[in-house]
Amino acid sequence: MPILSVAFPEEAGLEDLDMYVCVCEAATEEHVQQCISAGARTAKHVALGCGAGRGRGCGMCRDRIKSMIEQHYATVVECEAEPISA
Ligand code: FES
Repeated sequence: MPILSVAFPEEAGLEDLDMYVCVCEAATEEHVQQCISAGARTAKHVALGCGAGRGRGCGMCRDRIKSMIEQHYATVVECEAEPISA
């Protein structure tokens, strides 16, 4: 009997699956990342943009959304801090 293993999603052909960040609003990582890339700087901005973490939901996703925002802007700041060599 075959056993399905998803320990390595790429081996199972699952690498293109997008994880849900907010189950209540069916918002995926891609949805949230698009909001952040478009300029969302707070969880409220993301909620307005794609619904993730909206007030009527449970709120379980807000820490993840805040983490994604922090990670995005930390990366942007790191990139901006690179000196330009002539
Ligand atoms: S999981 Fe996002 S509001 Fe419930």
